[in-house]
Amino acid sequence: MIVLGIETSCDETSASVVSSNKKILSNIIYSQIDIHKPFGGVVPEIASRSHVQKIDEVIKISLKQANLSIEDVDAIAATAGPGLIGGLIVGLLTSKAMAISANKPLVGINHLEAHALTPRLTNKIDFPYLLLLVSGGHTQILEVKGIRKYKLLGGTVDDACGECFDKVSKLLNLGFPGGPAIEEAAKEGNENSIDLPRPMINHKNLDFSFSGLKTAVSNKISLNMNQQLKNNIAASFQKAVGDIFYKKIEKASDYFFKTYSFKPNIVISGGVASNEYIKKRLLDLSRLNNVNLYSPPKNLCTDNGAMIAWAAIERLFENPYICEYEIEVNPRWQLSGLNQ
Ligand code: KG4
Ligand code: ZN
Repeated sequence: MIVLGIETSCDETSASVVSSNKKILSNIIYSQIDIHKPFGGVVPEIASRSHVQKIDEVIKISLKQANLSIEDVDAIAATAGPGLIGGLIVGLLTSKAMAISANKPLVGINHLEAHALTPRLTNKIDFPYLLLLVSGGHTQILEVKGIRKYKLLGGTVDDACGECFDKVSKLLNLGFPGGPAIEEAAKEGNENSIDLPRPMINHKNLDFSFSGLKTAVSNKISLNMNQQLKNNIAASFQKAVGDIFYKKIEKASDYFFKTYSFKPNIVISGGVASNEYIKKRLLDLSRLNNVNLYSPPKNLCTDNGAMIAWAAIERLFENPYICEYEIEVNPRWQLSGLNQ
C-alpha cells in the first residue's frame, strides 16, 4: 500500500509518500519559519496564505521524488485537526479535491494520533505502550492501547511544553522557534545556576503545569542580561522540564506495570521530543528501569507529512474500506474523541 500524506496544521506545508513496508519514499517539508520570525510566533492568517501558495508545489515535488504519479498511490491522507483552522482547510480541501478527481480513498487524520503512531513507522513497537506526547499545542501522557484506542493519563492544565519553550525563548530574546534556540543556548549554560520551580511535580496525578515555570523565568529576566546569564537560564529551565518529565513518566510507568503486570515501552514524540537533553533524561530513566525508550528521528518529531501517511496506513490496515470524503476540519479534535 502506498499513501500520500499531507500536513498543514501549523507552520509546515508538508507532503510525503510512504509505503506500508515502512519506506518513506519522499517527505517534503516547506517550513514557514522565516515568514513568522519577524513576529516572534506563528501568525495564523499569514500561515494560511502561505499554505495556499505552497501546497501544490510541495505535493508535486513529493510525488516526483517518490517517482510516482497520483494514479500510483492507493490513498490520500490529510490532517483534519487539531490545529489552525485556515491551514487545516487548505490541506484537507486540497486532499479532498485530489482524492475525488483521482478516484482514491481519502483518510482524515488526527494530528495527535499521527504523532502517537510515528514511532511505529521507525521502530517495531507493539501495543500497548506509554506515550509522552509533547508538541507546541499539547503535553499529554497516554496509554496507547491500539489504533484509535487511547487513554489519557495526564495532561497540562495550562500551557503546553513546546509553547513554554517558545515563550521562554522570547523572554530571553533567543529567537523563534524557541525549542531549538533554548536547546542550543542551554549547551553553554550551567543547569544548576538558577533556581526555578517544578510545578505539580509531586502531585499524585500525571498532570502538568508550565505557566508557573514560564512566570518564574520571567521573574529572572533583567535589563542588559549577558549571553552567559541567558544560557544559564535556558539550561536551568530545560533541567526543570527534564525533572518534571522524569518524575511523571516514572509515576506513569508504575501505573502501567500495575495495570498490565509488565513494564512499558516508553515512547516520546512531538516537536519537543527532538530535544536531545530531554531524550537523554528519559533514556536515563528507561535504563534504570530496564525498559526501552523510543523516539522518532528529529525530522519525524516535528510536523511532517510522513506521519500523516503512516497514521493512514495503520488505519487502513485495520479497515481497508475507509473513505472519508465527507470529513470536515476540527481545530480542537482531541485524541479521546477518537476512541472506538
Ligand atoms: O509537533 P510540532 O512540530 O508542532 C505541533 O504539533 O505543535 O511541535 C512544535 C513545538 C514548538 O513549540 C517547538 O518550539 C518545539 O516543538 N520544539 C522543541 C525543539 N524543537 C521543536 N522544543 C524543545 N527542544 C527542541 N529541540
Ligand atoms: Zn505536531
